[in-house]
Amino acid sequence: MLLSIESSCDDSSIAITKIDTNELIYHKKISQELEHSVYGGVVPELAARLHIEALPKILEECKEYFKDLKAIAVTSTPGLSVTLMEGVTMAKALSLSLDIPLIAVNHLKGHIYSLFIEEDTKMPITVLLVSGGHTQIIEVKSLNDMKIVGSTSDDSFGESFDKVAKMLELGYPGGPIVQEYSSAGDENRFDFPIPLRQSPNIEFSYSGLKNAVRVQILKLGELSLQDKKDICASFQKTAVAHLIMKLKKYFKQQSPVRFAIVGGASANLHLRKQIDILLKQFNCDELLLADLKYCSDNAAMIGRVAIEQYKQNDFVGIDEIDIAPRVKEL
Ligand code: KG4
Ligand code: ZN
Repeated sequence: MLLSIESSCDDSSIAITKIDTNELIYHKKISQELEHSVYGGVVPELAARLHIEALPKILEECKEYFKDLKAIAVTSTPGLSVTLMEGVTMAKALSLSLDIPLIAVNHLKGHIYSLFIEEDTKMPITVLLVSGGHTQIIEVKSLNDMKIVGSTSDDSFGESFDKVAKMLELGYPGGPIVQEYSSAGDENRFDFPIPLRQSPNIEFSYSGLKNAVRVQILKLGELSLQDKKDICASFQKTAVAHLIMKLKKYFKQQSPVRFAIVGGASANLHLRKQIDILLKQFNCDELLLADLKYCSDNAAMIGRVAIEQYKQNDFVGIDEIDIAPRVKEL
């Protein structure tokens, strides 16, 4: 078995996975959404302190598996340095005391492998990763052959929902609340500009849209509940339209046979619906989605990647493990 740890942002999570069958034996996650909600976003130092409390609590429940463990896996990149550090420190201590090797896992690969937790899936897959930290199109051929072919030059898709929610004082995380408000709003009331509409490049940008929303809020002054719902709906429509417009360009060039959406923001229903329509237009009939419980950050997806790394003897020395807040390549 493998024990995997995830602490790259505001979720403390540990999983135990069987190496030969991929079976998830144990999985627990403690989210910090409530604690960060008052600040309208994740406060790194607070997140780190909460990981220090939560991770040992979860680990306590895993003790019965210690004797069966063959390796310890941990997210080492990308993420918040101070929170990654908490998981990595725990992983190092376990690796030393149990005398088993360490596996350093890339969080983005974890999101991709969330597709493989409950079933085996064929490759190649073109993956849209939409989370609080990332908006990327990734061509996945194998564990060691993944290429980022489009990404955001500023804010991410999920982050833009968080920021709009913060401007409207709706709490954190913004995605689910903005989606809920949108369902009762008029998406055509405000005409927000679709980002990078004229650019031929496959790249994303959300800072301009966020600013357009900010200007609209200032213009309205005092906001009624309906104003907020209409802003959410108009924003969501535009944020998704931007993704779809760029994906359309990608599909025209590449005609992928299999497509997947992963990451916390892949839970967005409007996005799922629009992607469905897009795939039909391009005769791509395989849309893969991870179970909702594995869309947001979790250790089960980290464990699933780690199984593949274990089979490749991809271990890292205790003094060699690098904590890197950002990654350019996979
Ligand atoms: O993958 P994740 O749990 O954490 C990161 O690795 O960032 O993604 C969390 C992000 C947050 O920004 C949250 O607002 C967004 O995903 N999100 C959504 C929805 N549910 C979560 N964004 C849009 N619509 C949703 N339904
Ligand atoms: Zn994530």
